[in-house]
Amino acid sequence: MFVLDRFIEDCRAAVAADPTHKAAREVVARAVADPGSIVKVLGEPTKAGNQCLFRSPELTILNLTWGPYMTLRPHNHRIWAVIGIYEGAEDNVFWRRIETEAGPRIEAAGAKSMRVKDACAMGADIIHSVTNPIPRLTAALHVYGGDFYRDDRSEWDPENLSERHFDFETSKRLFEASNALLGRV
Ligand SMILES: [Fe+2]
Repeated sequence: MFVLDRFIEDCRAAVAADPTHKAAREVVARAVADPGSIVKVLGEPTKAGNQCLFRSPELTILNLTWGPYMTLRPHNHRIWAVIGIYEGAEDNVFWRRIETEAGPRIEAAGAKSMRVKDACAMGADIIHSVTNPIPRLTAALHVYGGDFYRDDRSEWDPENLSERHFDFETSKRLFEASNALLGRV
């Protein structure tokens, strides 16, 4: 059974005992092994958005819902992340930095599709973009080994793949646009 307070305490204990993502990944994997019980506690997702369940300098826990076919541009976190899917699907593209004649850019370096019950860890240096490939909402627990809302993160322009400062406002508008499409503003 998923119990929110216990999940948060287990994540805090995992991070305190192991600064890498290994212990936290096990906590998330245990939680998403029973996706129905997460829905019972957090509710059936009704719109795109991200709900902060816990935030400290060492740990951030988000309940994140992607809108149908929503894509989030390439970005980094600069802290490790663990993503556990409890409803829907996420397709991730992983990117690496390259030098080009036009300047520093990124190129696609790999991909990972995640489905319900998958718990995937990403290192602190990862750059990824995320697509919800299905016509329904996707919901996931996102656990980060630090403060997700720090101001030292980057995103990459999806058209020319150049780096820029991560803009939380652009992300917020992306979720709002997705909800407008859903007709649930
Ligand atoms: Fe991310």
